[in-house]
Amino acid sequence: MKITIVGTGYVGLVTGTCFSEVGIDVTCVDIDEKKIENLKKGIIPIFEPGLEPMVLRNVEKGRLHFSTNLASILDGTDVIFSAVGTPPDEDGSADLKYVLDVAREVGKNMNDYVLMVTKSTVPVGTAARVKNAIQEELDKRGVKIPFDVASNPEFLKEGAAVDDFLKPDRIVVGVESKKAENIMNRLYKPFTLNGHPVIFMDVPSAEMTKYAANSMLATKISFMNDIANLCEIMGANVNWVRKGIGSDSRIGKKFIYPGIGYGGSCFPKDVKALIKTADVNGYELRVLKAVEEVNESQKSVLFNKVLKYFGGNIEGKTIAMWGLAFKPQTDDMREAPALVLIEKLLGAGAKVKAYDPVAMEESQRRIGDVVEYSKDQYEALIDADALLIVTEWPEFRFPNLNVVKKLLNNPLIFDGRNVYDAEEMKDSGFEYFCIGIKK
Ligand SMILES: NC(=O)c1ccc[n+]([C@@H]2O[C@H](COP(=O)([O-])OP(=O)(O)OC[C@H]3O[C@@H](n4cnc5c(N)ncnc54)[C@H](O)[C@@H]3O)[C@@H](O)[C@H]2O)c1
Repeated sequence: MKITIVGTGYVGLVTGTCFSEVGIDVTCVDIDEKKIENLKKGIIPIFEPGLEPMVLRNVEKGRLHFSTNLASILDGTDVIFSAVGTPPDEDGSADLKYVLDVAREVGKNMNDYVLMVTKSTVPVGTAARVKNAIQEELDKRGVKIPFDVASNPEFLKEGAAVDDFLKPDRIVVGVESKKAENIMNRLYKPFTLNGHPVIFMDVPSAEMTKYAANSMLATKISFMNDIANLCEIMGANVNWVRKGIGSDSRIGKKFIYPGIGYGGSCFPKDVKALIKTADVNGYELRVLKAVEEVNESQKSVLFNKVLKYFGGNIEGKTIAMWGLAFKPQTDDMREAPALVLIEKLLGAGAKVKAYDPVAMEESQRRIGDVVEYSKDQYEALIDADALLIVTEWPEFRFPNLNVVKKLLNNPLIFDGRNVYDAEEMKDSGFEYFCIGIKK
């Protein structure tokens, strides 16, 4: 089987590499010439644990190829996965420009049957639009070539993407024909030998499943942040509350950690897009609107604590920040709470010294040198008036507290991820503020 992945970003590159890992011939296509040129030289555009050696290995074995020219590689391709971006449009809905561009390109150039699979996160009805776009191009050419469309939303998590793809909880596939179902079944067989199911359903349900999944996860986070804020007011400790409710199997332990709001490339845009989809179809998703509102205000919680501590004035203060990425194990800073925090701190006249194990290059690309980047976590503390924990990287979990205390101007920590134990920090001589515990 030969497959083509269009869009070689987080999802496309991981998908293509993992399919090649099980022996399938894969070509990853992108319009970003620099990215493809680099990949051909073995330079991986993103940080994702385990990805680099797997890319290099499969390129060497001759199973993984890169190209900027979709038209030239369509012949002989059995399945095309479209994994291009679906950024939010101005009104919050998913911008399908790239998805439809790919569909038209396929329609213009295909010569044999293909199964066109949308892997990008797209609203209900997109597969139908993809189908129309391909058919329109075939009609313009005056040719009759059979094809199928399918929806195969991706559930991988950045930071664990390779593992998630190789050992998925489940694979969701929306199909319209038995032929498409058989192809997808064959393709995913190597990943389901250990019992993880491929759940086949109709296309609109598959499209909706992805939004519903991300919206549910975002809801858990915002709910917990809301509870954390109330805990602080009422004198309860959210860490205990989390443990207390998480041990109920109906609730579960995951995704109930309070913090400074969700970010990343998916939750914010997918929540917005689902709200918009509902709105234009005459239904109001009231719960999700509240989820979004809570998340927006949660991004300011740490800043507000800092400001309050310093009596409303942080002008001239130096603030150390550990973490820039929206979560650990990734360099992705799309919608990262760190960006909001930096803007607010700088806006209030503070200086920011930041350290992140992998995201500093990405930060520099996004915001330049408005913050000072440190070569390690301890350097960021020199002459700083407070330390802010923004991303819960493992290496921040067990710092040398004596060194931290020595380097900081004040033994003062604001922990946006509840990484440390409040009692222990107090015993170690720190003033410690976190989320959901009254100080
Ligand atoms: N990042 C995640 O964790 C994740 C997880 C699940 C689903 N998704 C969804 O997958 C989709 C892709 O997300 P991503 O994070 O990989 O995006 P990304 O921005 O990292 O990658 C998208 C790639 O598509 C390329 N592209 C755009 N138009 C193209 C075209 N016409 N032909 C070829 N390439 C083109 C871009 O140059 C870019 O490299 C989105 O819909 C996203 O919501 C993302």
